[in-house]
Amino acid sequence: MSADRSPATLIYLNNAAQGYPTSPAAIATFNSVISSPPSGARQLSRSRVEDARTLAAQLLGRDRSQIVFCASATNGINQAIAGYLQPGDHCIVDNRSHNAVLRTVANLPHVTFDIARIYDSGETMHIQELLCRIGPHTRLVCLNHVSNVTGSVYGIARVIETLRATRPDIACLVDASQAVGLVDLGDALRADFVVFGCQKYLHGIPGAAILVRGRPLRPLLFGGTGAHSSILSIDELPEPPLEVGTVNEAAICALVKCLENAFRDLHQRRDLNRELTAHLCAEIETIEEFQLIGRPSGDDRIGVVAVRPTVGNPQLDWAPYLASQGIVVRGGLHCAPTLHEECGLLAGGTLRISLGLYNTLADIDCLVAAAKEYLVALRELDLATEGAGDAD
Ligand SMILES: Cc1ncc(COP(=O)(O)O)c(C=O)c1O
Repeated sequence: MSADRSPATLIYLNNAAQGYPTSPAAIATFNSVISSPPSGARQLSRSRVEDARTLAAQLLGRDRSQIVFCASATNGINQAIAGYLQPGDHCIVDNRSHNAVLRTVANLPHVTFDIARIYDSGETMHIQELLCRIGPHTRLVCLNHVSNVTGSVYGIARVIETLRATRPDIACLVDASQAVGLVDLGDALRADFVVFGCQKYLHGIPGAAILVRGRPLRPLLFGGTGAHSSILSIDELPEPPLEVGTVNEAAICALVKCLENAFRDLHQRRDLNRELTAHLCAEIETIEEFQLIGRPSGDDRIGVVAVRPTVGNPQLDWAPYLASQGIVVRGGLHCAPTLHEECGLLAGGTLRISLGLYNTLADIDCLVAAAKEYLVALRELDLATEGAGDAD
């Protein structure tokens, strides 16, 4: 296997971080917008961003006033959490949350939070773990739709329904970053706030994300909107603006184009992903030194597959070796510390293989062949089970 693969032959299996290659539709839309005169945004009655908002609202079944464009999913999550919670409030996050959620709640002054361990190491849900953490000051529950480590698709509809029946005053935020493009968003859209970006399974262009805002939010940023310019206090505006300054029109238009395509082709995308995931999981089972973390292949997961190698360190040995063979995967904690902590994997992390829209069965076969070759070398070197150094 060649160590200097050309981009054309690169085997890219890190789509849970960023989908590659970027979709031709995203590139065409981005190029067309960026090479045209700016639409003057809010001063024209119909700007491209407003058209994109209308289309996004139609696709998501929400009013266009609820569609907020952000620069990234992290920005949208920060806006929802910090813009909703007030001093003295309590928030609950699930134990499959990404640091985009965990660090936001952990660093908000005057707000308390709990991590509800609603999923066990086999990824089975225990809803009671969430309900028992609800207190008089709880105002927000944050749920991950799909794990960026195990690929599990969680039964969030049941959680949202139970929450509504128990405490309708509590708002619910769903992080759909790993769902969009591969999973029906119907369950997520039952929530008050839903956030997703564009650069994973939409294969869009980084720099745009959507926050669906079902309850009022306080803005985190202040600035110009191109309207009501003589009014300085946002409290005097008809609605506190959540999009200020110059927005990334080209990336937003590309995002909504990719969303439209994903909604149109969702079944084919899901079927392909299911087939590839089944093949990958079956191949992993043939490698004695790879322990699969999470669910076996099936309908309740996508092709994000984490393994614990019993020889070699995921981040220090495996990912660099595979990269040297032209195969891109990722080792570490993947910004999901609670899952790794619960599985006793905080020190070494996991090796994550994540499939996108453009992967093939042959990609998986190459990965498996390279992994088997490396195992022979590792056995000879007799590396310690857990390599040195902290995972990140
Ligand atoms: C589950 C999840 N939430 C949030 C994020 C943050 O997304 P972004 O980097 O687009 O802000 C990611 C990115 O990996 C993710 O996987």
